[in-house]
Amino acid sequence: MQIKKQKILIVGSGGREHAIGWKIAQSKRASDLYFAPGNAGTLELGTNVTISATDIPKLVEFAKKEKIDLTLALPDDPLALGIVDEFQKAGLHIWGTTKAASELEWSKAYAKEFMKRHKIPTAKYEIFTDFKKAKTYVEKGLVPIVIKASGLALGKGVTVAQTREEAIKALENILIKKVFGNAGNEVVIEEYLSGIEISIHAISDGKNYKIFPSSQDHKRIFDGNYGPNTGGMGVIAPLPFMNQTMMNEIEKEIVMPTIKGMAGEGRPFVGCLYPGVMLTKDGPKVFEFNSRFGDPETQAYMRILETDFLDIVVASLEGKLNDLEIKWKKDAFACNIALASGGYPGNYEKGKIISGIKEAELQPDIIVFHAGTKTDKDKITTNGGRVLGVSAIGATLEEALKKAYKAIEKISFEGMQYRKDIGKSAMELTKK
Ligand code: AMP
Ligand code: GLY
Repeated sequence: MQIKKQKILIVGSGGREHAIGWKIAQSKRASDLYFAPGNAGTLELGTNVTISATDIPKLVEFAKKEKIDLTLALPDDPLALGIVDEFQKAGLHIWGTTKAASELEWSKAYAKEFMKRHKIPTAKYEIFTDFKKAKTYVEKGLVPIVIKASGLALGKGVTVAQTREEAIKALENILIKKVFGNAGNEVVIEEYLSGIEISIHAISDGKNYKIFPSSQDHKRIFDGNYGPNTGGMGVIAPLPFMNQTMMNEIEKEIVMPTIKGMAGEGRPFVGCLYPGVMLTKDGPKVFEFNSRFGDPETQAYMRILETDFLDIVVASLEGKLNDLEIKWKKDAFACNIALASGGYPGNYEKGKIISGIKEAELQPDIIVFHAGTKTDKDKITTNGGRVLGVSAIGATLEEALKKAYKAIEKISFEGMQYRKDIGKSAMELTKK
């Protein structure tokens, strides 16, 4: 049967959006790809539209005018603003979580209470709006302790405090100084979980779900997991130290009750559920929920996914995920290493000329995904904190990492920084 070619709009501008676009460009279904707003990499796959990912009325207008068949809403902000609800109201096809379903991500307070209701393992916690009460709680509690702004805070709202002073300072910043604005109207104070941090992704149609291979992001800026948190400095997938028994436990304890619980509460979860999971000595525990694909995780997934990505999205939208087998490359590992601007995740300059992307891609099994880039006349320049994601695949994780690091040697821009130890702790753990 001839499948009708589609016009696809991808909302977002990071490495995740480029990687999904790259995969969709190979789909039998896609015809024209549009990115809003996209980057220098997505420009090679389709058309970049100068509309911000959060300008929902303009995106609706564009999708109507261009007769877009399907929109993919990928970043957290537009989902939290209700992009899916607005598109649906306008009679447009869109994939992503509704505002109600994505509350699992945009309100950590909601997520914690949801987990309590559904007995999903997570860190012990209390929620506060009052600084004095929160301070008293910290003064009586143990350290380390974790302080979280409840709302979306560009990945910067979490402090793992080693001392009470540090914890109280974080509370002051959130509740009194309002450094995260309304995202800090509530704080979650959480027990510190020690263990191995991994990323789980499950795509759902509201009822059924399919779990992706496990992956691991590296969130701190410096080698050895030091320095401030970033959007993610590198990723590996699948994790060689995970086995099917551990994945089954995560499914039974976390994914299944979450999808079932959301449906039961009248918020069917159609989209990608991405729990951050800590493997503790007492079993896997959720330390956060995201209601979208992770970045950089997705940049690794797209390299090892064999199934047509649009088949997965359509099955998710049509409630038919149980009828679809998602295939992954056999015996293949993927990695992705972020090349970031000097100064990131603090202040950094933009507009640095990038050289060597083509040369890097001439190396075996390398694809360079763009994140913060733009075209300036005939040059590609830096335009964000995380600039590029250099991805590789290999028969072993070690091989994939070797290829990626070798390719990076070809790329340069002023101030470029990256972690040299992506995948190192996973490989050490696997040897044990
Ligand atoms: P998030 O912004 O929620 O991804 O949190 C940022 C980072 O803080 C995570 O990647 C974890 O490393 C860490 N984190 C969050 N919650 C906890 C917790 N309860 N215990 C230990 N570390 C945590
Ligand atoms: N991997 C980090 C994130 O997508 O939030």
